[in-house]
Parts: sequence; structure tokens; C-alpha cells
Amino acid sequence: MAINESSLILAIESSCDETSVAVIENGSIIRSNIVASQIKSHQRFGGVVPEVASRHHVEQISQVLDLALDEAELSIEAVDAIAVTQGPGLVGALLVGITAAKTLAFVHQKPLIGVNHLAGHIYASQLVTPLRFPLIALVVSGGHTELVYMPKDGCFEVIGETQDDAVGEAYDKVGRILDLPYPAGKYLDQLAQEGQDTYSIPRAMIHEENLDFSFSGMKSAVMNLVHNANQRGETVNQADLATSFQSAAVEVLTDKARRALEAHPEVQQFILAGGVAANSGLRGSLTDLLARFPKVELTIPPLSLCGDNAAMIGAAADYLYREGQFSDLAMNAHPGQAIDEPFRS
Ligand code: KG4
Ligand code: ZN
Repeated sequence: MAINESSLILAIESSCDETSVAVIENGSIIRSNIVASQIKSHQRFGGVVPEVASRHHVEQISQVLDLALDEAELSIEAVDAIAVTQGPGLVGALLVGITAAKTLAFVHQKPLIGVNHLAGHIYASQLVTPLRFPLIALVVSGGHTELVYMPKDGCFEVIGETQDDAVGEAYDKVGRILDLPYPAGKYLDQLAQEGQDTYSIPRAMIHEENLDFSFSGMKSAVMNLVHNANQRGETVNQADLATSFQSAAVEVLTDKARRALEAHPEVQQFILAGGVAANSGLRGSLTDLLARFPKVELTIPPLSLCGDNAAMIGAAADYLYREGQFSDLAMNAHPGQAIDEPFRS
């Protein structure tokens, strides 16, 4: 298929609990980015219910698609390619987006592009400022915590990762212990602004030279503190516990970011990516850290581009479009797809 010099990409994201469609021009201009959140439906279950997520995606995808094209003031004929999240994510949820993308690609004879969701989180920064290579991205989401080195566009090397829970998952579990609504990250972050760092929470792996993380011990420490207090008939100070947990999580993430930057002095840019990039403590702490690396540009997307959205998928797809890395209509969902996995249809 012919590749145009300028690109208009229609992107679809449905890997978890947001149904989103966007139109992205040249990998960096948001013509539209519609996000329909299902959070209210999952809140009463305290987490995402995969079957409920798939059903909501089916119900919402056509409407979200129409809204995205309307807002971009385009007909589908005007777009150059259809991009869609292939993985990682919930298989049923991914398949709704993939089926929609394949149908549009087939009916309108457009190239089809499969995008890794985590790559999307990193490329969200391209909607703010051009990427400068080599770069390091700290990807922090509900399912992943990784330090990723990118020597060039489309090339990902995982240089550090969590050995157990993702940091977002730890936030959500700790939030649940404190009776905060799902997903608790945002509420725990707000509560953490009000307390003092008084409880002792372990900073696992902080003294280890490697760039790996561990968050399950922090979560267990909070659980034990609450459990022991309950048994003694005492109450914990929720705000202080939130502050103490956030201090530990942010300190570990920031320290491993420092080690990564020291190990790679050639790096031009440091990107914070994923849902937990919305965290006020982490944003502040990385801003302070990067002040010590004046040659490295720090890019943190606005809150609207930290959580799941299709604009980031369209941004990541632009490079694949220019390289002609297209999928065929046999494209499948890859629920466990790693960011550094070679191209698969
Ligand atoms: O990237 P994302 O929207 O979905 C995944 O790909 O997982 O990330 C969602 C995660 C959830 O765990 C949520 O609690 C967390 O991001 N999160 C936060 C904040 N806002 C969202 N965690 C800490 N502080 C926040 N302000
Ligand atoms: Zn995500």
C-alpha cells in the first residue's frame, strides 16, 4: 500500500476499561481523542470484570468512532491507516477493538497497524514534544512497571522491571485496604497530600545495583499495619499511611530512575508514561531528580494523556506507518505482549 508523506491515523484502544478512538495527524497532532470510561460499572466490584469490560466495549465502540470522526471533521475515507492496540490487555476487550479495526481496514481498504499498549504510553509524549533519542522511559501502569531504553524510534530495550506487582496494582490494593474507590491510585495520591510520612514501609530492592523493582512487600506492609491495628482495637491514621506508602513507592521509582540515567549518560530525554504518571508525588520527585541532569529533557504528559487513550496509540502507530509495518486481516490479540517483542501479526 502507498505511504503518504503526511499521515492521518485513526486509532482504537480497548485493552482494559476505556473505549477510545482518536485521529492523529503526523504522529503528533490530536485531531480528536474520545475516551469512554467504564470505571463506574466496575467500581462496585472493586476491580475490572473482564466480561463486563468486553460488553461495554461492544456497546460503545461505534458511537465513540463516530464522535472521533465528527470531532476531527473527517470522513473515514480521508484517513491513511487504522491502528489498534494488539496487547497487552484483556483478551476479550482487545478483540473488540481489533475486530472493529479489521472491519474498517477491510471495508475501506486501509492499511492495518497493530500497536503495543505500552509503546503507546511512551509515545503519548510525542503529542507534547518530539521524542529525542536515545531516551529512557519509566512506564508505570496498572499492569506494568518498567524502565525502557529506546536508542531510536520503534526500538525498545527493557532495562529494569518489577519482579512482582506493578506499582499501579499496589496503589489499587492499598487503596482497597483503606476503603477507597477503584481505581484507587488517584484517591490515594490525594489522601497522601494530607498526611505525614510516619509509618515504616520497606523500600524493597532500593540498595540493589540493578534497575528492577518490587512492590508486593510495600503492599503487605500496609496490610499488616492495618490488620495489627485492628486486632489491638486501634485505628490507623489513613492519611499518614497513604503518605508513608506514597513516599516509599516514589522513592524507589525515583532512585531506580537515577541509576538508569547514571548508567546511560548519552540519554537525551526521560519520559514518564502510563496511568501512574498522573501521580503528583512521582511527578514532583522526578522533576527534582532531572534538575540534576540538565542535559536530559524531562517529558511528562498532561493528565489527560497519562491514562488509557487512543491518541497515544495513533502517535505510536505513525512510525510503523512510515516503516510500512502493516498487519493483515489475520491479526490477533496478544494479551501478554511484551514491549520488546518482535513484530507479530
Ligand atoms: O495506564 P493505565 O490507565 O491502565 C493500564 O494500562 O494499566 O493505569 C491505570 C493505573 C491504575 O492502577 C490507577 O490506580 C493508577 O494507574 N493511577 C494512579 C494515579 N492515577 C491513576 N496511581 C497513582 N497516583 C495517581 N494519581
Ligand atoms: Zn495503560
